[in-house]
Amino acid sequence: MSALKKKEVIELEIGSLAFGGRGVGRTDEGMTVFVDDALPGQQVSALIHKVKKRYAEARLVEVLRNSPDEDEPRCVHFGICGGCRLQHLNYEAQLREKGDQVREALRRLGGFRDLETEPVRPSPRIYGYRNKMEYSFGHARWLTPAEMQDPESVPDRDFGLGLHPRGQWYRTLHLAECHLPAPLSMEIMREVQEIVSRNRMKPYNTRGHTGFWRFLTVREGVRTGQWLVDIITSAEPDGSGEVETLAGQLKAAFPDITTITHTISRAKANIATGEKERVLVGPGYIEEQVGGLTFRISPRAFFQTNTGGCELLYETAVGFAGLTGSERVYDVFCGTGTIALLMASRAGEVVGIERVAPAVIDATVNAKLNGIGNARFVEGDATALLREGPVYGDPDVIVLDPPRAGLHPDLRTVIPTLGADRIVYVSCNPTTLAADLKEICENNYRIELVQPIDMFPHTPHIECVTLLVRD
Ligand SMILES: C[S@@+](CC[C@H](N)C(=O)[O-])C[C@H]1O[C@@H](n2cnc3c(N)ncnc32)[C@H](O)[C@@H]1O
Repeated sequence: MSALKKKEVIELEIGSLAFGGRGVGRTDEGMTVFVDDALPGQQVSALIHKVKKRYAEARLVEVLRNSPDEDEPRCVHFGICGGCRLQHLNYEAQLREKGDQVREALRRLGGFRDLETEPVRPSPRIYGYRNKMEYSFGHARWLTPAEMQDPESVPDRDFGLGLHPRGQWYRTLHLAECHLPAPLSMEIMREVQEIVSRNRMKPYNTRGHTGFWRFLTVREGVRTGQWLVDIITSAEPDGSGEVETLAGQLKAAFPDITTITHTISRAKANIATGEKERVLVGPGYIEEQVGGLTFRISPRAFFQTNTGGCELLYETAVGFAGLTGSERVYDVFCGTGTIALLMASRAGEVVGIERVAPAVIDATVNAKLNGIGNARFVEGDATALLREGPVYGDPDVIVLDPPRAGLHPDLRTVIPTLGADRIVYVSCNPTTLAADLKEICENNYRIELVQPIDMFPHTPHIECVTLLVRD
């Protein structure tokens, strides 16, 4: 293979999109090159910045020939924002590429060579689909190249509220627009930008761990019209009522907000989790309806972020479970109990396992709310609990819906020993899915169906529901 060199500029035809969203081309000598921001069908020139034995990485210098699949990005922040990076690829091509990525991951990392997968089911909405946004406050606002010419002249440059520029967790992109949530989410965020930029308390500094305002989470119950705002700060307020004042102003400006909570998060990690929570307005949760059931969602609980998309996902999972009314179902990684509760009316009994205590409480409340009597929820680490064997009774069906990192290595080996006839694996990461399936299939299971579902248009993410049956 030819020795590509760092800083070399090469010309390349882009053939596909890799998982993660980079364009993939091949040099005449057969070397794979991943090019940031390049699209399938484009001819590009690219600057090599990393060379490994089997592949190289490059930055896009120029598009020499356009792709027939290109689209006009809708957002002014496209290209800078780390939120979505595929707006310039039309939606049909996004679905085609994501389907290929799933097959490729299963082939390369799982060893499933001739596996047929179903065509990707599209998201019912391709903009305005996100029911939850987590905006970050920051003291280091990202400046445009024009602003960089004279940074001192930029008002409020030590205050930002929005998302992060791609690859720059330290900086904050002060958002003017985002098309992934409903417009009201943006209006609430812009109001907070206005109010807090004039506030005496400072935004959080992720390097020095100083400052007060950390995150603003805005959640929508799409089917109920309820809205939740969670204000996350780094410390207890100093008694001057800044947080209450902000909550009062928001409630007055947006009557659709049904609840406002305040969370204190001292953790240094740059994610919106918290140790202490209080309710400032309303009941402290919102409700959402999916698949004919109502679900309570509290600020810390996981809930799928695309309401219409998750209905497709759950419908597929329920179908794959093949329930006849008598089965015992384990819903492992059950969150607020959505899948378990949607399966309950078709099963004998459902058992949900979840690590986050408030989510388990929500799941239990959700069962009551929907008059479901054959569901129980257990709090704890799935690997530790299931290592003990089928202690909740022998499962007929196991649903797995782990976080992006996939299954703990021990759980991969424990799951096949529980003896379920069917395993329904819901995954948000085809690479960890492939590795997990490989090991489960080495222990008497085979893949029957793979259904990718696009829950996150314009982003590189893809969700997948896989049915495994016992041989
Ligand atoms: C992708 S979410 C799925 C939730 C649910 N199935 C749904 O669709 O809303 C993964 C869930 O697994 C939980 N979780 C993560 N690690 C866990 C573990 N080791 N044991 C039990 N639950 C865990 C998370 O808190 C989260 O609620």
